[in-house]
Amino acid sequence: MNLEEDLAYELFSQQEIADRVAAMGEAITQDYAEKAADGIVLICVLRGAAIFMGDLARQIKLPLEMDYMAVSSYGNGTKSSGVVRILKDLSSSIEGRHVIIAEDILDSGLTLKFLIKSLSARKPASIEVCTLLRKDTPNQADVNCRYIGFECPNEFIVGYGLDYAERYRNLSCIGVLKPEIYS
Ligand code: IMP
Ligand code: MG
Repeated sequence: MNLEEDLAYELFSQQEIADRVAAMGEAITQDYAEKAADGIVLICVLRGAAIFMGDLARQIKLPLEMDYMAVSSYGNGTKSSGVVRILKDLSSSIEGRHVIIAEDILDSGLTLKFLIKSLSARKPASIEVCTLLRKDTPNQADVNCRYIGFECPNEFIVGYGLDYAERYRNLSCIGVLKPEIYS
């Protein structure tokens, strides 16, 4: 069974993603080389950002810790519920640390807005967002993203960590799912 057959079209190829992630890792390495001599904390927003963060981490040439958080904002549908809940919290304290949140996609912005607020209250030395994708969504919450991989259209997309009903995360490219798959 070929997962790519369920795509209406490809948005970003495996190579385009690899090149962009390498450039993002290089930018982070440069930006943090001096101020974060004792390293940074990369926070993965499960589950969508796991593949992205795994690749990104290996492109950052600094000591770093990887930690994981799970929040709910989507069920098995394709629209944000607007409700964000912490399902799994971080394992380590981030107080006094330089934190970068790795996210797969900024859609309504509700998830990141909630996360930034909740993590800022734990007094990190700094907190920035690194999102692989930013969707062209109307009324997107105003979220300050220091690092953005790609801008993408307001379509439902899958691959490279992004799922529809827990499928397609293992697709190496990113593409728009055929609407008949979810309608
Ligand atoms: P937000 O809170 O609306 O910004 O949604 C963020 C989360 O929704 C992301 O971390 C994704 O897990 C999920 N999401 C948003 N758009 C898509 C999409 O097009 N495909 C798959 N997941 C998506
Ligand atoms: Mg996600």
